[in-house]
Amino acid sequence: MQTLLDILRAAGEPTRLRILAVLARGELTVTELTQVLGQSQPRVSRHLKLMVDAGLLERKPEGSWAFFRLAGETGGRAAGDARRLTALLTTLIPDKDADLARDLQRLETVKAARAKAAQGYFRANAHAWNRLRSLYVAEDLVERAIQDLVGPGPFAHLVDIGTGTGRMLELLAPRVRRAEGLDSSHEMLTLARTLLDRARLDHVQVRHGDLFALPYASRGAGKGRAASDVDLVIIHQVLHYLTDPAGAVAEAARILAPGGRLLVVDFAPHGIEELRARHAHRRLGFSEAEVSALLEGAGLEVEEVRHLKPEAEDEEGEERLTVTLWLAHAPQGARQKPLLQAAS
Ligand SMILES: C[S@@+](CC[C@H](N)C(=O)[O-])C[C@H]1O[C@@H](n2cnc3c(N)ncnc32)[C@H](O)[C@@H]1O
Repeated sequence: MQTLLDILRAAGEPTRLRILAVLARGELTVTELTQVLGQSQPRVSRHLKLMVDAGLLERKPEGSWAFFRLAGETGGRAAGDARRLTALLTTLIPDKDADLARDLQRLETVKAARAKAAQGYFRANAHAWNRLRSLYVAEDLVERAIQDLVGPGPFAHLVDIGTGTGRMLELLAPRVRRAEGLDSSHEMLTLARTLLDRARLDHVQVRHGDLFALPYASRGAGKGRAASDVDLVIIHQVLHYLTDPAGAVAEAARILAPGGRLLVVDFAPHGIEELRARHAHRRLGFSEAEVSALLEGAGLEVEEVRHLKPEAEDEEGEERLTVTLWLAHAPQGARQKPLLQAAS
């Protein structure tokens, strides 16, 4: 009873309800929340602290940043209660509320600014990308692990999300009947087309698009719509650039055919802050539990997680990054039931 009262008290204030509604659309830093709410940082920080203390929100420090998000599955019963309550509250807050409508508009502006900065980075680095991507990792080790984890196939339809120069498409082309790579950077796509032409991979294509709104059907057949035939999706070294990794995973899960598999490859948590400043990274890696929770939250079952640890520091004694691979699959039935939906 007391826990419930604490949670209700922590949520029962206009700015805090707005914070819940905004964070229901993805995690944010204090600076971003300050911009979205149009309030001073100390004020926003006070609200956030109170909500974290009450178990409504989680604060995840990462290098010099801290991300705030709605309380998740982990954290015991109180977090579970808080999570169910926030799921209910955020559906009850009217979208037409003037303050919230303004917040959501500013949220779009904040996200657009972030996406633009990342786009600028990819535009500038498209040509150097294949060299950059191997700076921290033994690339052939990662590629062998990817081939091993997905198995020989053959797959009917592979979608590579955030395909960049199309390397994943090239790697898996022999195991698929049809493959498509999707990316929002025209510069990256131009390079991918060149690479795929050169490799004479006629069954592989790339297209321009946004990974938060994938141009593919959902798992089950809808009214007059064919069901998805996508049986393999890859998100390779993309999540750490995104404002909403959970949204990206949920969207990838949506397009999987029944039993289809999703492979996420990204860095394990690290402390190389410089990657933010110089390489447009937003997140300094992900823990095994975090991405597993995202996959399960999207209604998938995690099959296997593999960590590829570097053998040693590089020649300059710099930290080298561990790469983690998460393989998950969609349920065999066509129905999708993400946890958040189930909770509300
Ligand atoms: C680090 S690169 C990874 C490329 C590729 N997966 C690889 O491993 O070589 C990340 C890619 O994600 C793309 N990207 C970032 N945000 C995106 C979005 N919202 N929609 C589609 N692509 C996006 C970028 O343009 C970039 O090509």
